[in-house]
Amino acid sequence: IRVAILISGRGSNMSALIEAAKAPDYPAEIVGVLSNRAAAPGLEIAASHGIATASLAQSRFPSRDMFEDIMTQMLESWDVDIVCLAGFMRILGEDFVTRWAGKMINIHPSLLPLYKGLHTHERALADGAKVHGCTVHFVTPGLDEGAPILQAEVPVLPGDTPESLSARVLIEEHRIYPEALRTLASTQALAP
Ligand code: GRF
Repeated sequence: IRVAILISGRGSNMSALIEAAKAPDYPAEIVGVLSNRAAAPGLEIAASHGIATASLAQSRFPSRDMFEDIMTQMLESWDVDIVCLAGFMRILGEDFVTRWAGKMINIHPSLLPLYKGLHTHERALADGAKVHGCTVHFVTPGLDEGAPILQAEVPVLPGDTPESLSARVLIEEHRIYPEALRTLASTQALAP
């Protein structure tokens, strides 16, 4: 199963997927990394693993639809079966989401359906939440609304800051994202 990862930034979840996919029994291969920011540090990390990379700035295209058509062309040129969003900070349009329906997943730093959108750690702390966590879910047109594949919980500890809490959640992100991709890739490999 051929997988592309879409990023915008540091790419730590991308790195976790790349490392996991090196195991001989892992059912997916990371064949390309696409960023909407040329300066994303994750691009260099991917290239250092010998993975194809590309960056496409949405602002250079006349419309979001055209930007996303080119992304799909790029993904198709890599012969991609599954798309993983890993800190990709653009909301995707309906055509793109429909093209990859059931084949595109995202990692979100909260226990969905709680705290969709940005600043999840700040909001969990402001609410006095006792548990927090992360979710890998299918991407559907509604932001952070698709069916969950895997979740992990972490405790919120006294004295936590958004930074300390996000670091605790990130450890779990790096654990469950490769697991969720393994599950999806295994299912797809069995599909006719
Ligand atoms: C992660 O917290 C992820 O859950 C969110 O964006 C962040 C990306 O970090 N969607 P990284 O680029 O994977 O390090």
